[in-house]
Amino acid sequence: MDAGIYNSVLVTGSNRGIGLELVRQLAESAIPPSQIFAGCRDPDGPRGKALKDLAQKHLNLITVVPLDTTDPASIKEASRVVGSKLGDGGLSLLINNAALNIHANLQEAGMKEMVDVYITNVVGPMLISKEFLPYMQRSSALPGSWAAKSGSKAAIINVSSMLSSIEKCPETFIKAPMYPYRTSKAALNMLTRCMAEELKTDGILVTALHPGWVKTEMGGPQAVLTPIESVSGMLRVISSLTSKDSGTLLNWEGNGIPW
Ligand SMILES: NC(=O)c1ccc[n+]([C@@H]2O[C@H](COP(=O)([O-])OP(=O)(O)OC[C@H]3O[C@@H](n4cnc5c(N)ncnc54)[C@H](OP(=O)(O)O)[C@@H]3O)[C@@H](O)[C@H]2O)c1
Repeated sequence: MDAGIYNSVLVTGSNRGIGLELVRQLAESAIPPSQIFAGCRDPDGPRGKALKDLAQKHLNLITVVPLDTTDPASIKEASRVVGSKLGDGGLSLLINNAALNIHANLQEAGMKEMVDVYITNVVGPMLISKEFLPYMQRSSALPGSWAAKSGSKAAIINVSSMLSSIEKCPETFIKAPMYPYRTSKAALNMLTRCMAEELKTDGILVTALHPGWVKTEMGGPQAVLTPIESVSGMLRVISSLTSKDSGTLLNWEGNGIPW
């Protein structure tokens, strides 16, 4: 994977699971981006250790950015930190990866479960995309900053899920009722579709990506893919996106998933 097509990348929720592996593979690719911003809500806590160790190995490449994706003040401060590091440069790739899953069927899902998951999985990505948009627009305006073949110069990836698919629900429901998570990811898909329309004129692609069922804290040990397998597929898909993929839901192998 040629990560060098991204001048600069921000990954949210990058201290563990898929987010941590995204940062690792981006940093260790043959042609890495010039800057990787690794968002993490508690970098100094025990859950931040693996990311801090990785950043230590790539001192001039990875910047760990304190970022709670549900806290507007934290988003603003993260944007200030990233902006000061970018200087005149832009942000070419934003991966909205951070998410929450509360396992709750119809009987178990109450207002708190629905609202907490919605805020993390939908409101957070929207606020972050808005806050970092000026840097992405700047990236889009820079000559040659995104793969020429994509016809775009910046991209927002919203990490979604197969469980968001309304059409696939009859096949997937029984194993994973998960009302808060499914409905939030369906809403994230609509956010993706809306932003894809709005940002077309800026040359910014917006795509929802399903990573597969992955062995992480969220995916559990029964999952079929390792984070390494999932993320190498995701990055391959991201690096080959073109404008026809904007506003779609793809899986880690690049195949479309129906809404
Ligand atoms: N694993 C799967 O099988 C699977 C399948 C489909 C889709 N996905 C999607 O893939 C993405 C990554 O999932 P994963 O499996 O890596 O999940 P995970 O292991 O549970 O990791 C979730 C990450 O999100 C972070 N996060 C949650 N709330 C946050 C907040 N308010 N602010 C900042 N960070 C926050 C967590 O940070 P803390 O450590 O601070 O909690 C953690 O880094 C998610 O969007 C998920 O919905 C996963």
